[in-house]
Amino acid sequence: MSEQFYITTPIYYVNDIPHIGHAYTTILADVLNRYQKQVGNDSFFLTGLDEHGQKVQDAAKLRGIDPIDHCNEMTKRFTSLWDKLHISNNDFIRTTEKRHKKVVREILNIVNDAGDIYIDEYEGLYSISEERFITEKEAENGQFRDIKKLKEKNYFFKMSKYQNALINHINTNPEFIQPEHRKNEILGFLQQPLNDLCISRPKSRLNWGIDLPFDKDYVTYVWFDALINYITAAGYNQNDEIFEKRWPADMHLIGKDILTTHAVYWPTILMSAGIELPKTIFAHGWWLMRDEKMSKSTGNVVDPINLIEDYGVDPVRYYLMREMVLGQDASFTSESFINRYNSDLANDFGNLLSRISTLINKNYEGVMPAAAELSSEELKIIKFSSSVVKNFDSLMVKMAINDAIEEALQLVRKINKYFEHSTPWKAVKEDKTLAGTILYTGAESLRIVSVLLSPIMPERTKELLAVLNTDNSDRSWGGLKPGKKLGKLTPLFPRIVADTNNVN
Ligand code: ME8
Ligand code: MG
Repeated sequence: MSEQFYITTPIYYVNDIPHIGHAYTTILADVLNRYQKQVGNDSFFLTGLDEHGQKVQDAAKLRGIDPIDHCNEMTKRFTSLWDKLHISNNDFIRTTEKRHKKVVREILNIVNDAGDIYIDEYEGLYSISEERFITEKEAENGQFRDIKKLKEKNYFFKMSKYQNALINHINTNPEFIQPEHRKNEILGFLQQPLNDLCISRPKSRLNWGIDLPFDKDYVTYVWFDALINYITAAGYNQNDEIFEKRWPADMHLIGKDILTTHAVYWPTILMSAGIELPKTIFAHGWWLMRDEKMSKSTGNVVDPINLIEDYGVDPVRYYLMREMVLGQDASFTSESFINRYNSDLANDFGNLLSRISTLINKNYEGVMPAAAELSSEELKIIKFSSSVVKNFDSLMVKMAINDAIEEALQLVRKINKYFEHSTPWKAVKEDKTLAGTILYTGAESLRIVSVLLSPIMPERTKELLAVLNTDNSDRSWGGLKPGKKLGKLTPLFPRIVADTNNVN
């Protein structure tokens, strides 16, 4: 039965050019989207850009151009990167779009009508980099830059009113915040009294935002505006039938840097507006460069475009998915990239294809032989392949993508071993039927592994399947038909010879 699946990435700020961290979350969402489609679900994948707020206004000012011109330019940079990375999103939302501004004003009115917004004069410490008032304790911790004292009249959302309801929701829905340690972090945070949320900025200070519908002297706080993108794109108050179908989102994929806004601000806003909460908020860790978070301010960002140009899109996607344990931080180094590429893709995966294709071209006139006589050994492999598919699925559902990949590669490694002791290159000279069985078994295993890895490496696996001359994406044994002429072998994963000057 086809199920709905709605997956989102954060909408990225346009003050910064996209780096490998943004690419990572977007590729991860793309992999999950492609996987959901492959297993027959109706998946909808949203990404986009967060275009309002102080940071963007300042970035545009620095360049001496209008914020909207700046946003339009940055949009091209992001979308062209997503094209290059083969991102298969179904919608792309920009918070400056009319459809979004309309929904933000509607939600503000609903929340206001519910009696959850009040005006108050507030004096406190304000962090420009965070774009919000911070507590004394946060200021002492020294984690935020650009802090100043500010006294201002502003509108507040009664977030505190929903504190208990939120705690209750988290406790009764264990899948709501993932992984588990992030859930505990939020529950810990909620042990302290929750403050109300300042949701306005006076235009005297910031005008690049959405006007409050009930006070034209103010614009909406950028996070209150941005979070709403998830329902705008799902058709909220535009198309009830579609909204009904898509909402609640199955997965908001985010980095751990924006956990509080997603796991506290967003659900309380939704509660006030009487809208169902998303099913899962999943926070992954950070990509680090020499143990530091990649960011524009530290100037240590990896540009995904350079990597793609050097190694190709699919190897980059593979590395990012294979190397990060979801929920933990990971270190990006070109050394580990090259090692991973050479061992998994060049040696194990790519080599097996070229072995099989070369032997079939030489000894069977390039036509796929049949598995005529299955011995207990082949039967074991068939059984093993079906357990690989089963384990792959349960690991994907658990968001253990790196383990799922490793599971698929187990089948490749098994076949490499099977080849070593059944030596098809010798067998072809003595018993062509036997050798054909071995080669078919290897080729069919490769087909299944390619199908499993296709959400991660959509292009290279397609090329591999073209070499085997099949487009059968069934994951059970027997999809490969004997008697077909193989396609031309192209080196899918040529070994990278490390340039030591280039290694981080
Ligand atoms: O926070 N490692 O946008 P943003 C892994 N506009 N992921 C990283 C990363 C790194 N080093 N650096 C960035 C915002 N990311 C808001 C979001 S949503 C309603 C509004 C990824 O441009 C990760 O997904 O700062 C992180 O959460 C996101 O980029 C932050 O992007
Ligand atoms: Mg950020």
